[in-house]
Amino acid sequence: MKSPLVCAIVAMDEGRLIGREGALPWHVPEDLKRFRDLTSGHIVVMGRKTWESLPPKVRPLPGRLNIVVSRNPVALALPDGVLSASSPAEAIAKAAAVATEGQRVWIIGGAEVYREAIPLCSEVFLTVVKGRFSGDAWLAPFEDSFYLSDEASGEACSFRRYTRRSC
Ligand SMILES: NC(=O)c1ccc[n+]([C@@H]2O[C@H](COP(=O)([O-])OP(=O)(O)OC[C@H]3O[C@@H](n4cnc5c(N)ncnc54)[C@H](OP(=O)(O)O)[C@@H]3O)[C@@H](O)[C@H]2O)c1
Repeated sequence: MKSPLVCAIVAMDEGRLIGREGALPWHVPEDLKRFRDLTSGHIVVMGRKTWESLPPKVRPLPGRLNIVVSRNPVALALPDGVLSASSPAEAIAKAAAVATEGQRVWIIGGAEVYREAIPLCSEVFLTVVKGRFSGDAWLAPFEDSFYLSDEASGEACSFRRYTRRSC
C-alpha cells in the first residue's frame, strides 16, 4: 500500500504564538471544529506535553489512533489503544505500518514536535488567529519550504494550507 500522507495542523496568533502554560491561549470554536473535521478517522501524532494538555474527556482524541512521542515512552502509562514512539520519525513509521487506505497522519503539536516533524510533512494546515496573545510556545518558521496553496477567512481567524514545494 502507498505511504500515508503526513500533514501538520496548527493554530498560531499573528506573533506565531501557539501555547500558554500547557494550553491553547484562546478559545476559537470554528478552529476546534476544523481540527475535529480534518483529523477524525485519521492518525494523530503528538508530543507528551500536548498529550498531557488534552482535557480528560478527549484524551485520547476520540475516533482517531493517538500516538504519543516521548524520549521515555515506557514511563507514559498510556491507555489501551494509544501507541507511543521515541521520536516523531518513529511515530510516522508506526502510523504508516497500520494506516488504512486514505488515512492521513496528522502531526498535532506541540512546538517541539512541530520543529522536528514539519520537515517530514507534505502539507501544513495553518490557522492564523487574529490578534496577539501572551504565552510561552511558538511555531518555528517553516513557510520557506512550502507554498500557499489555499486560503479562507473565518470570523476570528484565517485558514491557510501550505504544500511542500517539491510535491
Ligand atoms: N496552537 C496549536 O495548534 C497547538 C497544538 C498543539 C499544542 N499546542 C501547545 O503547545 C504547547 C506544548 O508544546 P511543547 O513544545 O511544550 O511540547 P510538545 O511538543 O507537545 O511535547 C514535548 C515532549 O514531546 C517529546 N518529544 C518532543 N520531541 C521529541 C523527540 N525528537 N524525540 C522524542 N521525544 C520527543 C518529549 O517528551 P518527554 O519529555 O516525555 O521525553 C518532549 O518533552 C502547549 O501549550 C500546547 O497547548 C498548541
